[in-house]
Amino acid sequence: MKWSIQTTIMSDADKIKRLLNRQLLTWYRRNQRSLPWRETSDPYRIWISEIMLQQTQVDTVIPYYHRFLKAFPTVSSLARAPLQDVLKVWENLGYYSRARNIHAAARVIVEKFSGRIPDNLEAIKTLPGIGQYSAGAILSIAYGQAHPAVDGNVRRILCRLFAIRKPIDDAQEKKQLFELAASLIPARHPGDFNQALMDLGATICKPKNPDCSRCPVANLCQAQLNNLQNVLPIIRKAPAIPYRQAVAAVIRNLDGLLLVVQRPASGLLASLWKLPGGFIKAGEDTEKSLRRSVKEELGISIRTGKHLTSVNHTYTHFRITLHAYECRLLKGTPKPLECQNWRWASLTDLKKLPLSKIDRMILAEI
Ligand code: ADE
Repeated sequence: MKWSIQTTIMSDADKIKRLLNRQLLTWYRRNQRSLPWRETSDPYRIWISEIMLQQTQVDTVIPYYHRFLKAFPTVSSLARAPLQDVLKVWENLGYYSRARNIHAAARVIVEKFSGRIPDNLEAIKTLPGIGQYSAGAILSIAYGQAHPAVDGNVRRILCRLFAIRKPIDDAQEKKQLFELAASLIPARHPGDFNQALMDLGATICKPKNPDCSRCPVANLCQAQLNNLQNVLPIIRKAPAIPYRQAVAAVIRNLDGLLLVVQRPASGLLASLWKLPGGFIKAGEDTEKSLRRSVKEELGISIRTGKHLTSVNHTYTHFRITLHAYECRLLKGTPKPLECQNWRWASLTDLKKLPLSKIDRMILAEI
């Protein structure tokens, strides 16, 4: 009888991939963060969690996740709800286009996909608000498909693991890191693998001072082995964001109700409610800006009174200071000229309306 010895020839890359998978998954099974969306396999819930987790910390998301699912327990209940109700539950979570997209996507899911979150890449990416990252996260976690979910945290981990010295925010490099991540995703438990990377990035392989002594893949990490963990990844300096100033009019009627307007259906903070007013133009002082912006928005003339408060806030693309002034309605009945709607609101009404954070800050101060 002839014996043949079968040897498997494995490249270094394959060996690293195997070890990385095994070590990360073992670590994840023992150390994963206990998070509410990890207690379900319902694609709807996983979808909602992934959208909320875009640009938002886990701790901030948890109470919103519970509240949202209590208000809209199924995709059809979400599809049936008025947008205003969805925005209200989303209030203060920020990046409100996510809420509008979730709402629009729920309607598409009901109408086009029989109420089921699509389980393939092409279809899921046609939904509003679902890009490559969220698609990869949802498909891997909810449906066990081997897609990567590559965000800034995963790029940072990969740059360190493979000691990549090119700027992490370069478009070409981002593409290469995506390919690298795709090549590492295991066929078994891809969702756990992606979430292990997320947990590693959030708890150990942090942007500053990574805790390599606790890292489950430190033995494979080229940055750690070459003492580059505090140098990598290389990030080009982001340009400073512009600074803008705006004014808000606090106008009460004889019953003590407050005049509020609903923002246009598209643009910044679309469809949320706010105090009347707008950005200060070059050459305007605050009072002139108030009179002009309120006239443009509502077609009314006002008299500006005392300065009440000023608050600062930072959005993705600009920083803002909003100055609030007590004002009086002089002439005219409000008309929705540069807004969707307007109303006189009591304190109870204000609690129910979706308002942006900066307007809530003003209201809290007055
Ligand atoms: N960030 C984005 N998706 C996440 C998830 N599923 N778990 C923890 N953090 C996340």
